Amino acid sequence: MVGPSASVAVATMFVAWLLARIAWRLFFHPLARFPGPKLAALTHWYEGYYDIVKKGQFTFEIGRMHEKYGPIVRVGPDELHILDPEFYEKLYDTRNLKVDKYAWFYTMLGNPQATFPTVSAEVHRKRRAALNPFFSVNAISKLIPTVQAGVDKLSSRMDECTAQNKPIPLFYAYRCLTVDIISDYAFAGKLGMLEREDWGESFYFAWRALWEMSGMIRQLPWMMDVLMALPRWVTAATNPAALEVIDMIATTDEQTRLVLETSPEAYDAKPYPTIMWGIANNPDLPPEEKTFKRLAVEANSILAAGFETTASVLTLMTFLVLDNPEVHARLKQELETAIPDPNNVPGWQVLERLPLLSAVVKESLRMSVGAVSRLPRVYPEPIQYKQWTIPANTGVGMSNWYIAFSPEIFPEPKRFNPDRWGLPGSPTRRYLEKHLHPFGGGSRQCVAMNMAYAELYSVLATIIRRYPDMVLWETDQSDMEFVFDYFAGAATHKRGGLKVKLGKDVAGN
Ligand code: HEM
Repeated sequence: MVGPSASVAVATMFVAWLLARIAWRLFFHPLARFPGPKLAALTHWYEGYYDIVKKGQFTFEIGRMHEKYGPIVRVGPDELHILDPEFYEKLYDTRNLKVDKYAWFYTMLGNPQATFPTVSAEVHRKRRAALNPFFSVNAISKLIPTVQAGVDKLSSRMDECTAQNKPIPLFYAYRCLTVDIISDYAFAGKLGMLEREDWGESFYFAWRALWEMSGMIRQLPWMMDVLMALPRWVTAATNPAALEVIDMIATTDEQTRLVLETSPEAYDAKPYPTIMWGIANNPDLPPEEKTFKRLAVEANSILAAGFETTASVLTLMTFLVLDNPEVHARLKQELETAIPDPNNVPGWQVLERLPLLSAVVKESLRMSVGAVSRLPRVYPEPIQYKQWTIPANTGVGMSNWYIAFSPEIFPEPKRFNPDRWGLPGSPTRRYLEKHLHPFGGGSRQCVAMNMAYAELYSVLATIIRRYPDMVLWETDQSDMEFVFDYFAGAATHKRGGLKVKLGKDVAGN
């Protein structure tokens, strides 16, 4: 039995430890002289309050901190945030240094063995080298027929809806498309989302439930393991939406197992090797990088990274075009000239030379922001920002939200204005491209930019060219506005996101 005096001693020790910790973080910590709210310097739960209680709001709170404290702010006990578009390249261009990701921040993604959330720069280099060949211009060119086949499938389902006089839920449809494309490339196993009667609505909600939990997972990382370990019936009773994610993870596990068990010859028949097969058979990777467990989490992470991001840009881009009749009319004209046969759409390398289409893609990427979150890095040595020397081992991030909507770089930043991009190759476009960061930057920049561009160009060109009379249906600006930061931005989604209807003038009719 613990006596009352022992309890008092324990309580006293705890209070002393707490006071010492508070004093350390506020007065003696290497970041103590940096401006910012004292509560944020004291505890990660300041962030937790905004991300958990107020739901995905910490990034926006960081903006308010900058208004009060200036361009550099201490946003957590060991973390700074910088708001200065000119500093972005310097922070993220880490080629010559072993710069890690900030472990605290990236915990919310789970899967520490996947390339995306890998913390150590050294481990990341090996994993990234194995992924790179699958996303080169050459590799993605071979993928174009798969992308176009997916868009054609989407198009035929749109025609079915129109025949039944139903609106088309493009928000979900785009997610079905991007899941089908990336799952085909990752392990030659389409998840058949475009076949689903519900347009994958339940699949989206399952993922959304997981993203909504991400702030909590950052504070309590063991939660993810608990979720995965729970008996199925408990999850069904307490968090039914998570079941679909669990099932999806089981499917990617199964697909990965099949890849490992299949002989190389079976893959020679495809015009391109699948990503998971390529990694599993990469002679440069050590055996511990090719275990079933690691490959399965990599597959799952690639699927997650590849579907929502691209679909989110497609959704916003289609909305912005349809909501701006003058741009829509000019784009239709440009595409009619460039694509005489709507059933024969060229690949993205041809499409990206079209002045207006390419400006629409850039402007939509800007307004979709890419990752809204702050993507913090940890330098092994001090770095300088203006008069501030940032100590080594500090988390330092910059949310692209504040660059994408910077009025100094993009005047009237909330206005969709493709013309601000000038012509391809012009000095204006080159200057603005320097400040366009939807794919992040440096050695951790999105590995799949070519693939993302291929999808964005093929889908938009096909849909706008084939359906000149497409109009918005029960969708307005309020359905598009990103009000939550779940790594990528998310809208309230009260009315199901983007929906459209097609007029009579459907290609082929
Ligand atoms: C428009 C679409 C896309 C956007 C806006 C986007 C955005 C991003 C961003 C901002 C990062 C860097 C994150 C960080 O620094 O922590 C990233 C990394 C990554 N993305 Fe994308 N992404 C897109 C499409 C894709 C696709 C289609 C894939 C398919 C495989 C993909 C796979 C990845 C992977 C594996 C990484 C980690 C790279 C590394 O750490 O080396 N992304 N993406």
